[in-house]
Amino acid sequence: MEDAPAANAVGIVLSADEIAQRVTDIGAKIARDYQGRSPLLVAVLKGSVVFLADLVRAIDLPVQVDFMSISSYGEGGRSGVVRILKDLSASIENEDVILVEDIIDTGLTVTYLLATLRARQPHSLEVCALLDKSVRRIIEVPLKYKGFDIPDEFVVGYGLDYQGRYRNLRSIIGVKDMETFAAGPDEVVGPYS
Ligand code: IMP
Ligand code: MG
Repeated sequence: MEDAPAANAVGIVLSADEIAQRVTDIGAKIARDYQGRSPLLVAVLKGSVVFLADLVRAIDLPVQVDFMSISSYGEGGRSGVVRILKDLSASIENEDVILVEDIIDTGLTVTYLLATLRARQPHSLEVCALLDKSVRRIIEVPLKYKGFDIPDEFVVGYGLDYQGRYRNLRSIIGVKDMETFAAGPDEVVGPYS
């Protein structure tokens, strides 16, 4: 029997178990690299929140967390210039900062954020991203910690949204056919498990 059109629209799938295993590994690596220190994990709202919540619990160190909220200027955010809607709640001077991102796509957003954060003179500054859509990269990004390389597919779940929804999916689902997806996203993503 042939799959329904909705099922054919699904591309890559990262299961909750696969994600959990990878997050555990990244957390252990961060704990080794920052031994004796108290790194400050800076997450970019809203997409990175689910990843951050799991990641901090995988790091056996007294980590700190803070949040930033941004919006992209211009058409589809392609200018690379972002506006800070909510800034960090404290200075990062002399802190060991790890910028936590859900996904690096063109790299424009993270490049802008790194410049902004670097100007505040942290002791160190690294990037940790769960997903790397490297084929779409416009600017090279120094990615110290990475979860998964993914193909050029729009992904939802585990923090990533489509029109504000599907962040609470436990797995990550790639969309192969945006037209089918847009016509009935609920059919494509399936149950919330
Ligand atoms: P860029 O690296 O500046 O192109 O933008 C990265 C941001 O775009 C991420 O932080 C996400 O908010 C968003 N984004 C990029 N690709 C996807 C995707 O496949 N699904 C959901 N959001 C995405
Ligand atoms: Mg984001």
